[in-house]
Amino acid sequence: MSFQPPKGTDDIIAPESQAWRKTLRLWDDWSERYGYPLVNLPIFEATELFERGVGETSEVVIKQMYTFADQGGRSVSLRPEGTASVVRAYLNSGHQGVWKGAYSGPFFRYERPQAGRRRQFWQVGVEYIATPSPLADVEVIELGYRFITATELPDVALLINSIGDPVCRPRYVAALEEYLREHESDLSAESVSLIDRNPLRVLDSKVDGPKLTEAPRTLDYLCEECAQHFASVKEGLESLGVPYKEDSSLVRGLDYYTRTAFEYVATGLDAAQNAVGGGGRYDGLAEAIGGRPTPGVGFALGIDRIMLALGEPQRPHLDAYLVSETGPEDALRVASALRDEGIRVDFDVDGRSVKAQFRTASRLQVPVVLVWKGEGQPVDVQTEGERAMLPLREVSTWFSSR
Ligand code: HAM
Repeated sequence: MSFQPPKGTDDIIAPESQAWRKTLRLWDDWSERYGYPLVNLPIFEATELFERGVGETSEVVIKQMYTFADQGGRSVSLRPEGTASVVRAYLNSGHQGVWKGAYSGPFFRYERPQAGRRRQFWQVGVEYIATPSPLADVEVIELGYRFITATELPDVALLINSIGDPVCRPRYVAALEEYLREHESDLSAESVSLIDRNPLRVLDSKVDGPKLTEAPRTLDYLCEECAQHFASVKEGLESLGVPYKEDSSLVRGLDYYTRTAFEYVATGLDAAQNAVGGGGRYDGLAEAIGGRPTPGVGFALGIDRIMLALGEPQRPHLDAYLVSETGPEDALRVASALRDEGIRVDFDVDGRSVKAQFRTASRLQVPVVLVWKGEGQPVDVQTEGERAMLPLREVSTWFSSR
């Protein structure tokens, strides 16, 4: 019998995992630079949190949750996204005033699997809670943009829109509904069924969205406050040199958004999964889950998609392989000394021949082979086109001078 990973999930192992590790380290670095401490939250939550937080008309809640009754008979769901949990944690913490958090981990949606669309996928994200300031939107959007740029992902576009708030959105939704009713015969059955429940979702439809270029635009219906907020966000992005495009069809798939909505799109990927990240403001979410009114803004990035867009990993996971001519016990000790100096090194514990150890080194594609010849003897440092005989204590200096 042989088991395969469940449909839509992946075993991420070396060498691919090394590129993941590099990207996740970069994320820790960038999110910390912007002042977002780590939040580690449950992988499953009460189903109702997502129903009320993410929204009962969102596709994620209707079709994509992994929901089950636990042994105590409670309905729980594997987290399909992070924002509802982060806001719940903020409310539970009793903290007053602004609060920031960064997360990184697996999320789950029952999707039709394809490249870049997985049932278990990895998101990194931040939430900036308890401030209505448009500068928070700007900071958050900038962080996502700078991080993506730092991963060296080519051709990323930032799309932004404002979808209004409870003051101005009803007027927009009414106009959109009327337009969609007039054009019902051009729409798929699924979109028609959404007109009453959540007409904004129709703009998001892969099938019908592109047909709706003449539909009313949210930006034409914004109230004074929302228009001002959006103008400040754009001004802030311009002052930081973050390039963006306005996209009036961008409405996002989750129900909690108010005002700012944005997406990072990798133009080199297939349109079905080229959104490498997205986010926005969610000023009504805290109340929707039973908390006090608390504004917030954030984003999440899909690491699986970023890795897909980055292509094959370039960097080996080791700096060197240690070949021992005097057996594995010596290699254990020498490797320990090198690791203590920060060198990423591995060796053979099975006492295989020197020839076999060299074969392993070449399979691992290490840039340097260190040959241990015995106590009191210099280490033979071999790289492509270069060779040096160095005392063990000088090996780490040699690495740092490269
Ligand atoms: P989202 O747009 O649903 O937003 O997901 C964010 C990103 O996660 C997507 O742009 C995509 O890159 C990745 N992603 C989503 N589903 C999958 C999947 N099935 N397979 C691979 N990657 C996927 C949110 O989740 C919001 N919580 C973001 C947010 C934070 N808004 C405010 N704060």
